[in-house]
Amino acid sequence: MSQPSPFRTSLLEQAEGPARNASDNATMGEIIATRFSRRGLLKGALAVSAISATVGPVALLAADEARAGGASAFSFPEVEAGVDAHHHVAEGYDADILLRWGDALFSDSPEFDPAAQSAAAQVRQFGYNNDYVGFIAIDGSAEHGLLVVNHEYTNPHLMFPGIVTIVEKDGKKELQLAGLTRDQVDIEMAAHGGTIVEIRKVEGKWQVVRDGKLNRRITAATEMQVTGPAAGSDRLKTNADATGTKVIGTVNNCAGGVTPWGTYVMAEENVHGYFSGELPAGHAEAANYERMGIPEGAYEWANFYDRFDLAKEPNEPNRFGWIVEVDVNDPTSTPKKRTALGRFKHEGAESVVAANGKVVFYLGDDERFDYVYKFVTDGTFNPDDRAANMDLLDSGTLYVAKFDADGTLVWMPLVHGEGPLTAENGFAGQADVLIEARRAGDLLGATKMDRPEDIQPASANGKVYVMLTNNSRRKDDQIDAANPRAKNAFGHIIEINEDGGDFSATKGTWEILLKCGDPSVAEVGASFSTATTANGWFGMPDNCAIDAAGRLWVATDGNSPKGTGRTDGLWAVDTEGDARATSKLFFRVPVGAEMCGPLFTPDDQTAFVAVQHPADGGEDWEGFGRLSYYEDLSTRWPDFKDDMPARPSVVAITRQGGGKIGG
Ligand code: FEO
Ligand code: CA
Ligand code: CA
Ligand code: CA
Repeated sequence: MSQPSPFRTSLLEQAEGPARNASDNATMGEIIATRFSRRGLLKGALAVSAISATVGPVALLAADEARAGGASAFSFPEVEAGVDAHHHVAEGYDADILLRWGDALFSDSPEFDPAAQSAAAQVRQFGYNNDYVGFIAIDGSAEHGLLVVNHEYTNPHLMFPGIVTIVEKDGKKELQLAGLTRDQVDIEMAAHGGTIVEIRKVEGKWQVVRDGKLNRRITAATEMQVTGPAAGSDRLKTNADATGTKVIGTVNNCAGGVTPWGTYVMAEENVHGYFSGELPAGHAEAANYERMGIPEGAYEWANFYDRFDLAKEPNEPNRFGWIVEVDVNDPTSTPKKRTALGRFKHEGAESVVAANGKVVFYLGDDERFDYVYKFVTDGTFNPDDRAANMDLLDSGTLYVAKFDADGTLVWMPLVHGEGPLTAENGFAGQADVLIEARRAGDLLGATKMDRPEDIQPASANGKVYVMLTNNSRRKDDQIDAANPRAKNAFGHIIEINEDGGDFSATKGTWEILLKCGDPSVAEVGASFSTATTANGWFGMPDNCAIDAAGRLWVATDGNSPKGTGRTDGLWAVDTEGDARATSKLFFRVPVGAEMCGPLFTPDDQTAFVAVQHPADGGEDWEGFGRLSYYEDLSTRWPDFKDDMPARPSVVAITRQGGGKIGG
């Protein structure tokens, strides 16, 4: 087996790994002339930081001045950007730790003991690397409900004692990991998946209801059912499952969503990392797997479980990379992999009910040069009959986006038999189109994007916000109107207006809301408003949320001490009026962490945020300056106890004295 990467799917690999989309789609639209030659200027984020340290923020006004204009929809005192071992929230707010990796969910859950971990304990405890956070109200309450949380992946160098050796390679220190034991792999599998847990606000503070009757852990060992057009396809059949409909587990659940009918959807993202081994020579899936980067072999699970070994179960990877739907009302329900929504590296699945009652899911495929999708159900949402909605996700149309240079957006259907999606091109039926959704998008001429992450519809105004996190590989001759920067180190945000405000429309318009990065460095080409302060700008948008007031909040993945001089965090971004494209820092994470969630309760009085992989890094932070691993962590957030590792955690942010978040 190949050696595991200690960093797994963290930003380092994503930023520098191979681009998968080798299709020859022309980049769309006119080439936008760049005002500055970037040659020699942008050698990545490190170079930019060096420049920004010497250039004053000439283009920036103070936040107070911006507020004096009365334009911003937000009125909180901005957090100072920076890097340290702690989290920071805007003054006047409390940020309370609600759930940590290892916290008990049931009365029989063992107390978390990092020195004596077991899969049996982990499966009764909150999992690792919390990412998506959703809230499903109980009896319509904004203060009592189910919190649903994805556990995306595991970092063994931060989780397990005694497995790291520091080695020197080419004069540089590196972490070397001992091979994981079967017990450790089982712990990893139990730390993946999702948590469903009842929570309640008591005297202004959120509490976990241990033993809530709907509390549940879903893991990489939970049995799932495959449904929709690809269920039962020969390409999904394995030695262990001759029906092609029963899968063990879900992995790399990144962002997700809560459906209008109150189910929890989990997006399977970087599934390539879990597979190892070689396909039998001449196997028909070779090109399909190449397009998905399978196998990467970042995990050692194939050492102990045949299903992750391509030589033994060559069809297994076709059973991952889907959207999984969980009926949270029945803790014994079998989660369903809904194949109608296509198979790719799904970032998330935020949804909205269109005016015609159809439900629309926005889907990003997080890879350089991959695509933006949406799924429109055939059926309509019935607000009075939950049961009537339970299979809406099995029938509908998956579309892929073409962003034309004139600002037109075209949603192209991925329907077998239409256009190039025919047997001649290797698609025998709709199952094939869905299993190879990426190749279908290639053939339709979809626009190659700068890593689509979370995509958020705003039900109040018919707009949709697309987070594009970065694309260090885009070359000058590959820029297009929707991805206008070569070597896009800091990402951008696109705003979509669906035709007539109809989310189910097959056309719309688009414009760039924000090009990210330091606006005081002209060569970066960032487009924050001039009211944005030196603390307010960010790079690498990833997850996002729209609060009940319709305002946009953006969480980031990849800000760093040397890269942007700041950790990741949660930023409030104005989208309307004079303040459009003004951003303010509301919360920031401890060193090494990524900001996930975010989620606002229906009354806007709580923001839940997920702090993922704290202490994963520290070598470029002056306050630490060396490699971080279990025995020597850059932060022991949130417990700060010598015998406790850093613990990914969900944080509940409330306003002191009550009131809405963000003013
Ligand atoms: Fe799991 Fe695309 O972030
Ligand atoms: Ca993400
Ligand atoms: Ca979101
Ligand atoms: Ca990301």
